[in-house]
Amino acid sequence: MNRSSPLNQTTLSDKAYWHGYIPFYERFFINRNIETIAEFGVYKGKSIRWLLERFPGAKIYGADILPLQLEWPIDSRFQFTQLDQGVGEQIHGFLSQCKFDLIIEDGSHQPKHQISCLIEGLEALNPNGVYILEDIQTSLPSHPWWNKQFHWWKFRERAILKTQQNIFSFGNALHALLALDHYKRIGVEINEEIARLISKNSLLDEMAILRLARQINEIHLYRRTHLPDFCHNCGSSDFDFSDFKCHCGEEIFRDTDSMSFVVIKK
Ligand SMILES: C[S@@+](CC[C@H](N)C(=O)[O-])C[C@H]1O[C@@H](n2cnc3c(N)ncnc32)[C@H](O)[C@@H]1O
Repeated sequence: MNRSSPLNQTTLSDKAYWHGYIPFYERFFINRNIETIAEFGVYKGKSIRWLLERFPGAKIYGADILPLQLEWPIDSRFQFTQLDQGVGEQIHGFLSQCKFDLIIEDGSHQPKHQISCLIEGLEALNPNGVYILEDIQTSLPSHPWWNKQFHWWKFRERAILKTQQNIFSFGNALHALLALDHYKRIGVEINEEIARLISKNSLLDEMAILRLARQINEIHLYRRTHLPDFCHNCGSSDFDFSDFKCHCGEEIFRDTDSMSFVVIKK
């Protein structure tokens, strides 16, 4: 049996049918006036189509390393910028176009890029604005992409890394947001001493932690706890359930899948 989902794989973003992010985001969209939106990562234009439909009065600024693609929506409310999230000035230039009510980072998913977009993105948000950091599971040490955060260093100092790799843990946006949320939940103010503790073995220094703490009001982490509606590889909704795989071999319930932060600015 290989039943295709009645939902439409060709038009839906994987935010909807795979990760299940959208119902979680809706909690933060209601009762908010969202008029300016930025999204890193356009890919096939599916999430831009969703945003155009979900926010009919909003202007949407999309960014991607890809050049403009023919399949992307043509709409006076959608404006595109080609950029590389690895280049700080390009992120800054893109986010300087206006103040945003909503920013979604669904681009490279590289831990270093997640950090720089989060820091720049919070500056570019309006008060009470929403910053969404998608697919933060790539910042887990058990995710294969976690290594990308120190590739540059590995190539330069391969010998040192071999002997010292256990000493460095390279904390990133995932650990920083979890730590800030932790202290908020237990009612502890972030001061220099706590910021220093959070920044230990981290890509975020003490100043970056203090900067985030000053800007953030709420942190919410989503983790998918159900199966995808259908497989993103083959479209089937029937799976080999006991193997946690689709018939096509795609894993459908991994530890390192479908995690997203919603961060609310003060
Ligand atoms: C997950 S897809 C975006 C999916 C889209 N938001 C949606 O939901 O339909 C990720 C996109 O990030 C882009 N990307 C990868 N590396 C990038 C980089 N360094 N800078 C900017 N965009 C990048 C890719 O070209 C790809 O289009």
